Amino acid sequence: MKETPKTQAAPLPASIQETATERLQHMREQTLLGGGPERIAAQHKKGKLTARERIDFLVDEGSFVELDRFVTTRTTDFGMQEQMVLGDGVVTGHALIDGRPVYLFSQDFTVLGGSLGEMHAAKICKVMDMALKVGVPVIGLNDSGGARIQEGVDSLGGYAEIFWRNVQSSGVIPQISAIMGPCAGGAVYSPAITDFILMVEGTSYMHITGPDVVKAVTHEEVTSEELGGAGVHAGKSGVAHFTSPTDKSQMMLLRRLLSFLPLNNAEDPPFVPTDDPHDRQDPELDTLIPSDPSKPYDAKRVIERIVDRGSWLEVQPDWAQNIIVGFARLGGRAVGIVANQPSVLAGCVDIDASVKGARFIRFCDAFNIPVVTFEDVPGFLPGTVQEFGGIIRHGAKLMYAYAEATVPKLTVITRKGYGGAYDVMASKHLRADVNLAWPSATIAVMGAAGAAKIIYRREIEKSADKAATEAAKTAEYERLFNNPYRAAARGVIDDVIEARRTRPLLIRSLELLKTKHENRPVRKHGNIPL
Ligand code: HXC
Repeated sequence: MKETPKTQAAPLPASIQETATERLQHMREQTLLGGGPERIAAQHKKGKLTARERIDFLVDEGSFVELDRFVTTRTTDFGMQEQMVLGDGVVTGHALIDGRPVYLFSQDFTVLGGSLGEMHAAKICKVMDMALKVGVPVIGLNDSGGARIQEGVDSLGGYAEIFWRNVQSSGVIPQISAIMGPCAGGAVYSPAITDFILMVEGTSYMHITGPDVVKAVTHEEVTSEELGGAGVHAGKSGVAHFTSPTDKSQMMLLRRLLSFLPLNNAEDPPFVPTDDPHDRQDPELDTLIPSDPSKPYDAKRVIERIVDRGSWLEVQPDWAQNIIVGFARLGGRAVGIVANQPSVLAGCVDIDASVKGARFIRFCDAFNIPVVTFEDVPGFLPGTVQEFGGIIRHGAKLMYAYAEATVPKLTVITRKGYGGAYDVMASKHLRADVNLAWPSATIAVMGAAGAAKIIYRREIEKSADKAATEAAKTAEYERLFNNPYRAAARGVIDDVIEARRTRPLLIRSLELLKTKHENRPVRKHGNIPL
């Protein structure tokens, strides 16, 4: 029989209970104020949202669960006890995005400029640790004046703790950084280690040293925007993957990006059913490639016609435009797309294109996203700029990334597959699973004119009509190699297909390759040529 307790705690008088609850409510209200109405108004005047407003736009309504709202700085130097603000300038917690969990932090510029001190860093580290333990993405909304000057080495240490966690989480959970304001000094290195950087146009910037230091050291006069604004990092440096005109649109884009990603490296990306028929054939593809091999076309048109309607999301659209990378879906399954772009530098692979492609492929491989390659590549870009810049070292990254990847790899050669670049772009020899060619494909060591000039040099020089001999030899080489059948005869092309059939065939292949399993030798890690 259950024993009745002899003594029972006397209930607290209602007035005290209310006082405790009221205190909680009062403190909670305080946490919502950040740096106060004036600073919030100043933030809005700059066209920026507050840390909390950004979270509201990013996550599913009502799903945000805040952590550590009562954390404060422990520093008392420089009168910091007068500036203690609940939450210490960063809002942290977990939430749902499209019903899937994420951990996140959002720096509050209205509190000491969003600067990062010991406890601010500890809050970020807590959500990073939890995200890794639970196996879900971590999202950082960065808006900060950098290391909190008053906290000295505690803030520097805080950054290093974050960097360390970024590295531990790399390739295990997706990490995404949205830059919503300043991000300067060593602070840039946390976003740099994460998988994707999004920047807001006009209000965000990233640089190692600001305009004043630049002026003192190099005598260059630049603004923060000119030095490290969204346009610079999206178009020149390749640091940023996406830009958006406003805070709100940036949050929407971040949601879309997440829809292609799995929660962690042991899971598959979400399946998103499509009403675009899996067996849809597109006759327009049959005539999309110009018959003149030197004529450009837009490879994005090829991609958009093949993938699930409306699913294409280009990554780094403004940088190294001679290669295209991005996410899409085929029959509802997320894929990473890599394509040479014949309308920029004739689709040649250069240093930036190699780096862009390699990093994207490695992300896809880490997170179980099959890689589909559309190839039309005349070769590596020649010239002193490229050689002096280390195209050998950088081009090797692209080759390394393709060879290292064990996710399903599907390749479609639409036109040129020339030289070393043929090998690199997910050839059968680098262990691609499916290699298809369109009838317009030409697979050779180089273009016919260049090839004829080299192998028939003496014959051309000796002949009475050099031009006619050269043309005849070029035509001969074209007849032999300007088609996909030599490669198909060796089995390094699985099939030559009408371009219109590409979508159904890729979807069937992906379905089949769902259970693909491939091992690599056991090692600590490879040594990709950095
Ligand atoms: C403490 C800071 C701060 C910081 C800004 N504030 N940065 N407090 N530490 N690093 C405070 C300001 O005192 C001010 O407080 C409020 O934030 C807003 O700053 P303003 O200057 O009024 O705003 P704005 O004009 O918009 O300029 C923003 C800014 C500027 C460009 C970020 O504040 C700035 O240059 N800050 C210093 C940046 C910096 O040098 N950080 C260290 C980088 S080195 P009140 O009370 O007036 O509102 C670094 C190393 C990391 O980060 C190392 C990792 C390895």
